[in-house]
Amino acid sequence: MIFPENFVWGAATASYQIEGAVKEDGRGQSIWDTFSHTPGNVAGGDTGDVACDHYHRFKDDVALMRELRLAAYRFSVAWPRVQPDGAGAINPRGLAFYDRLVDELLAAGIAPYVTLYHWDLPQALEDRGGWTDRDTAYRFADYAQAVHARLGDRVTHWATLNEPWVAAFLGYGNGVHAPGRTNPADAMRAAHHLLLGHGLAARRLREAGAESIMLVVNSAPVLTPAQVNDPSAVPGEADAAAARRIDALLTRQFLDPALYGRYPAEVLAAAERNGGTGHIQDGDLEIINAPIDLVGINYYNPCVVESGPGLPADAAWPGSEDVRFAPADAPTTAMGWPIVPDGLSRLLVRLSKDYPQVGLMITENGAAFDDVLDDGRVHDAERVSYLDGHLREVHRAIESGADLRGYLVWSLLDNFEWAEGYRRRFGIVHVDYASLSRVPKDSALWFRDVIAANGL
Ligand code: FCB
Repeated sequence: MIFPENFVWGAATASYQIEGAVKEDGRGQSIWDTFSHTPGNVAGGDTGDVACDHYHRFKDDVALMRELRLAAYRFSVAWPRVQPDGAGAINPRGLAFYDRLVDELLAAGIAPYVTLYHWDLPQALEDRGGWTDRDTAYRFADYAQAVHARLGDRVTHWATLNEPWVAAFLGYGNGVHAPGRTNPADAMRAAHHLLLGHGLAARRLREAGAESIMLVVNSAPVLTPAQVNDPSAVPGEADAAAARRIDALLTRQFLDPALYGRYPAEVLAAAERNGGTGHIQDGDLEIINAPIDLVGINYYNPCVVESGPGLPADAAWPGSEDVRFAPADAPTTAMGWPIVPDGLSRLLVRLSKDYPQVGLMITENGAAFDDVLDDGRVHDAERVSYLDGHLREVHRAIESGADLRGYLVWSLLDNFEWAEGYRRRFGIVHVDYASLSRVPKDSALWFRDVIAANGL
């Protein structure tokens, strides 16, 4: 099973999850510092204060990436390192870190994929309303421009936002993520302002000469329970309508504005019921519809729903009245997420059909399992099987005509898994949080061989 010649293989991480060094070189506070230091928010009271200490160990980490033969490394820039207050003065010492990282990657022959926003909003901006405030979108564009001005001579691949659905609906809807707000109207506003920030930033990046611009979304096929194991199952009308509505909230809410300059009717209806649509101003959709080159897909599991007459909306899903979120009949990872590899090919084939104007890239895919470090090895057979199963589906999607450019595994390292803290290990490289030593798991060695063979 061989992949296309220029297929890009790599791994992904995010700033707050790995860097540590939260008070160094003038870094300002982010909403994740505040949130993780507030008791009760993160399992075990974990914070990103030290994380993987990547800030100090990035050279060793790049050396490791090279040994694993990665061609691409997707990382994110911490906005509060670059602009401690989220606006105004640029902190050159913060940018200097990413400058060194980019040089180290290029020297190792690894292409940097820079994500500008992976959830660590400067706290100073949250204090002024965060993503519920329209001004944050403009601040984001300024920040994006500043990062590009420093790294754009060497970085080709830019992503504006990581998973705006999660940032808006877990951050402002159910409050499981920073800033921990729980208001459906705020979540709808945040989603729109994130999109506006994406459009403004994409335009600035393009004007500055960025070659490849991408929006990264968490997407998934929305299936009824019967469809999980039987793609040909035909759902009844009520179940199909429930699935369509959730698909609009999860995927089309972001990709329709970004790629067609319009909101799905289901999303406008959800906004109407939750604070109204007054925050969507004339001209916004045109800005959001900035030309981009790629959509990054983060896929972990399908979303499974059925009709649930009379049920209230889930806090993470404003507009999901009368829908039941159902379990899938499938094995699960340590996160409790169902393992449905062919959900990925179903998703990719559909997205490439619905959004033919962009290429697709898997910007995250992977799994947490309860790994054991045993005599210097981690025999993570379940992760190898998860990755192998999903890569076969990626290949299948390509054969079916999906324009898929690459695959980045989540994650290079075990790291701070947001509200789950350090207890959930997603890395292909094991991190011992006491000594901070790194040990490639069996999955890393397997992935290295897949890359070498450009296939399975
Ligand atoms: C995604 C996030 C990423 C990581 C994985 C497991 O939603 O983008 O940071 O936490 O989930």
